[in-house]
Amino acid sequence: MHAIEFRDVDFSYGEGGFRISKLNLDVEEGEFVAILGHNGSGKSTFARLANGILVPDRGTIRIFGVPLSDKTLYEIRKQVGVVFQNPDNQTVASIVEDDVAFGAENIGTPREEIGRRIDFALGAVGMQAYRHATVQRLSGGQKQRVAVAGVLALKPRVMILDESTAMLDPRGRKEIMDVVLRLNREEKMTVVLITHFVEEAMQADRAFVMNRGELVMQGTPREIFSDGERLLTFNLALPRISVICQALNEGGMSVTDTLDFNILADEIAKELVCGS
Ligand SMILES: Nc1ncnc2c1ncn2[C@@H]1O[C@H](COP(=O)(O)OP(=O)(O)OP(=O)(O)O)[C@@H](O)[C@H]1O
Ligand SMILES: [Mg+2]
Repeated sequence: MHAIEFRDVDFSYGEGGFRISKLNLDVEEGEFVAILGHNGSGKSTFARLANGILVPDRGTIRIFGVPLSDKTLYEIRKQVGVVFQNPDNQTVASIVEDDVAFGAENIGTPREEIGRRIDFALGAVGMQAYRHATVQRLSGGQKQRVAVAGVLALKPRVMILDESTAMLDPRGRKEIMDVVLRLNREEKMTVVLITHFVEEAMQADRAFVMNRGELVMQGTPREIFSDGERLLTFNLALPRISVICQALNEGGMSVTDTLDFNILADEIAKELVCGS
């Protein structure tokens, strides 16, 4: 089943402004999809359309087969959770557990269920020990994990992370990526990761590239990153490992274009032995 389905979706912010025309895409249930794209390519607009914050001018958006409309919006919002970029803008309460509970309380989750949801969500992001802590005292990575927990407490079937790691240092980014990967692999949560960091997209099942409101590339990360020249035309860089593979090949070694550092290390070792 498609978790998210866009069919011929048109959207514009107004006459002469940014527009998306005839956007068609599918995200499968249980899939981990990365969306890459230069500034202003329409990634956040996609996220806002997918959970009904914005309404298309034409076309249909279905979430698990149900068309988004005024009537279904409330139910669909429960299924599609979005984590945004800046954790400070997402904090609503000063104590971690209240902050995590806020969204779930808002959608009418029964009182006795809230406690369980907080346990589950804080456990999933590894923040149980901070349940009674003050949000403002946490590090950036911890705050963002609390923001992820707040969305998890809604028990959404789909989680969209819109540049949710952009403000974090490498360690904070890894914390969030680990949580997201685990939720996808173990809880079968459908994940859409919007990111500028190509290294993060390497871990996805599939990647989409957006440019000026259009979906211009889609495929496995390997497929996407094997066309470096095309990516460059969309102002996207290659992952470090692809750059290394390219440089080695140009330098006279013959290695496979891989995204796996272990494979690359083996190949270099073989080349060094055979080539000597
Ligand atoms: N509320 C709005 N009203 C008018 N134009 C908008 C609005 N929000 C975004 N835009 C414009 O729409 C275009 C796409 O914006 P969007 O936020 O979807 O891009 P993005 O790919 O998420 O970019 P970034 O990488 O900077 O987050 C941009 O040119 C932006 O200026
Ligand atoms: Mg954005």
